[in-house]
Amino acid sequence: MEKFIIKGGRRLEGEVTISGAKNAVVAIIPAVILADGPCVLENIPNISDVSISLRILYEMGAEIKQLDKGVYRIDATGIKDPVVPYELARHMRASYYFLGTLLGKFGRARVSMPGGCYLGDRPIDQHLKAFSALGAVCTLENGMIDICADSLIGSQIYFDKITVGATINAMLAAVKATGLTVIENAAKEPHIVDLANFLNSMGADIMGAGTDVIKVRGVKNLKGTSYAIIPDQIEAGTYMVAAAATRGNVLIKNVIPKHLESITAKLAKIGVNVEEFDDSVRISVDGPLVKTSIKTMPHPGFPTDMQPQISTLLCLAEGTSIVTDEIFNNRFRYVDELRRMGADISVEGRVAVIEGVGKFLGAPVTAPDLRAGAALIIAGLAASGVTEIDDIYHIERGYEDIENKLRALGADITKKTVPGNSVRKVAL
Ligand code: EPU
Repeated sequence: MEKFIIKGGRRLEGEVTISGAKNAVVAIIPAVILADGPCVLENIPNISDVSISLRILYEMGAEIKQLDKGVYRIDATGIKDPVVPYELARHMRASYYFLGTLLGKFGRARVSMPGGCYLGDRPIDQHLKAFSALGAVCTLENGMIDICADSLIGSQIYFDKITVGATINAMLAAVKATGLTVIENAAKEPHIVDLANFLNSMGADIMGAGTDVIKVRGVKNLKGTSYAIIPDQIEAGTYMVAAAATRGNVLIKNVIPKHLESITAKLAKIGVNVEEFDDSVRISVDGPLVKTSIKTMPHPGFPTDMQPQISTLLCLAEGTSIVTDEIFNNRFRYVDELRRMGADISVEGRVAVIEGVGKFLGAPVTAPDLRAGAALIIAGLAASGVTEIDDIYHIERGYEDIENKLRALGADITKKTVPGNSVRKVAL
């Protein structure tokens, strides 16, 4: 079992480079199955969700070669059996993207139902609705989702609520269907656009990604391609908040500032200086941090994946802040851990009321999930004294080399291996 030990109280200073986007790459790696030739993917982050996705492809029969740091050649043409066994799929919720991609390629898919969830209710009814609209029959047996279609026919899909996962799965399944699929009330996240750009570079015909109506005209064949993944907007936002929480001065490189607008706007309200350049942002603080109210929303609103981190910053601000998570109904599980570090937060359903306390005190804490773990790191960096964070495997699912990136900014953070078994429950 590994933990992070942080001696807090140091200002972060210097430069950090952002890696490829986790939530784009966990869709794009399965999408390689749709190609009739090898694909070269660049800017692949070294995170455990990527290892799991590549492992699934490999076990299914793909050939994978690492060409350079973050660059992989994947030839998935050897995959013949559209089944992802439970043992492989259970480690990662995003394994449900194999449903859309295998259905799109083979007209059949059998993937284990995504595992338990730690952010609240996460049904997949909208995914199944999209597959059904295209003519597939979906059944659930022994925890496996079975989907098959004699042929996939383009159709109109209207999502009852905005969902990233179902929008991606609908695109993956429709890309080779016969005729036109119109996806309405689609999610607009940057990784939706990235997946569409990747599929279009393979020869797909997708228009409107990034708006709430996506049109997919089915094509017969998709070819291999080379593609570089976009930078991770949430990793960037996490370093922005970490810099602010330590009253540091950090240049965050390899970002698309447009993707960070909602985070930048809230940080500015809190009193953080954000300077934007072409592909970087500089964060600094020279005055007091002040309260604000935040509601998480689908893109371009404030992302739920930044809610724990910004709530942590608001503990250091003057006044009472209100944070509402409109996306997930149980994403405040880190609050108990932050309370152990001196935070004054009360939670009622989806709403947290945060009384600014101005400081944290180091304490032993446990990361309940990926972004909550990142929030605890931020609290530890800002705290006086030592913070020990357990269950850091959650954090390593989505942050490449976080320990060394923070250390290069002047943080005192080390990873320690301690005896003992951690029960790994992951599903984001
Ligand atoms: N929903 C349904 N039915 C569905 C699908 C979703 O009711 O069929 C609901 C969910 O319960 C939730 C809301 O719709 O209340 C939004 O869920 P969405 O489908 O957008 O989320 P997701 O695809 O399961 C992805 C990211 C999450 C991120 C959310 C929201 C990946 C692999 N995961 O999850 O990322 O929080 O979108 O932006 O892309 C993270 O990176 O830490 C993370 C949790």
